[in-house]
Amino acid sequence: MVRPRSAPSAVKDDVKRLLVTGAMGQIGTELTIALRRQYGADRVVASDIRLPPGNDPREHGPFEYVDCTDMRPLTDVVRRYDIGTIYHLAALLSATAEEKPHVAWDVNMGGLYRVLEVARQNRCAVFHPSSIGAFGPSTPRHGTPQDTVQRPTTMYGVTKVAGELLCDYYHRRFDLDTRGLRYPGLISHATPPGGGTTDYAVEIFRAAVQHGRYTCFLRPDTQLDMMYMPDALAAAIALMEADPARLAHRNAFNVTGFNVTPTDLAEAIRRHLPEFTIDYLVDPVRQAIADSWPASIDDRAAREEWGWQPRHDLASMTADMLVALGARVACR
Ligand SMILES: NC(=O)c1ccc[n+]([C@@H]2O[C@H](COP(=O)([O-])OP(=O)(O)OC[C@H]3O[C@@H](n4cnc5c(N)ncnc54)[C@H](O)[C@@H]3O)[C@@H](O)[C@H]2O)c1
Repeated sequence: MVRPRSAPSAVKDDVKRLLVTGAMGQIGTELTIALRRQYGADRVVASDIRLPPGNDPREHGPFEYVDCTDMRPLTDVVRRYDIGTIYHLAALLSATAEEKPHVAWDVNMGGLYRVLEVARQNRCAVFHPSSIGAFGPSTPRHGTPQDTVQRPTTMYGVTKVAGELLCDYYHRRFDLDTRGLRYPGLISHATPPGGGTTDYAVEIFRAAVQHGRYTCFLRPDTQLDMMYMPDALAAAIALMEADPARLAHRNAFNVTGFNVTPTDLAEAIRRHLPEFTIDYLVDPVRQAIADSWPASIDDRAAREEWGWQPRHDLASMTADMLVALGARVACR
């Protein structure tokens, strides 16, 4: 495990570096920056199959083109940089995976399998995010427990459950340090979301700031858990820093920030932008995906085993998002 710069230690692991796959995505963009702040820019290698634009902040540290479904470049980067921990974020998200299930299987499962193999051969720790999409219609819908029925009905969900099991297998069978989080929908302003069912919760803020109105693709009463990106980043880093002796679970921990419907989100925005209006044009594919997911999840295991505690609720996230997007729009 790589330690933060503020807590230097002489053990060999401390000189090892971190690799982020899928670093151009919604999470990867901000996680790369957060990890570089924490551990040092030169110790965090960003990678993706999309190249960063010229003025991208990831310039301040190494970037490598790595297709995670190809063992060779993965192995090369891990050995060349002496990688100790891989944050494996490259994946297709729920809505895109339903459009292209074969590609989703190749990237989500093929990529994870190769990352785990390279990690096994080079003794790296692996962080791999799962999702509330790992649950299905037969899962208890309210306060979904940590350990429960997981029979998802989407290709995304199938790859997420299989991914959780594969990570646990590598931990048990090869003593690999694999850890994961079941993220809810993530709300952020730095990078657009990559084709998920909860994308509405990001789009609504941009639309509110730019147009004063938004057409939502989910029903007004669709209840789902969400989390603000700073909490998602803190959770990933805290889990990978946690004392392994305290972890009864590994892949993957339920975590949540707050629970909302599109109506709740619109009301929270109206407290800052009273003229904001919302209407609805329901997309049956994404609505069916949302309806197959838990309405709310129970994250007590994460709180008890590694001290998970979100900092943002709906009100503080909304205020922060509007300021961030307002400032950005005003600068254009
Ligand atoms: N964003 C969310 O709301 C959310 C919620 C739950 C779980 N997650 C999980 O977190 C992880 C990251 O999600 P995200 O929102 O940042 O996704 P994203 O779609 O924004 O980014 C994924 C990145 O992976 C890259 N990629 C795709 N195929 C690749 C390949 N073959 N090799 C290398 N890179 C490739 C893409 O170019 C993209 O930059 C995923 O595993 C996702 O399932 C995300």
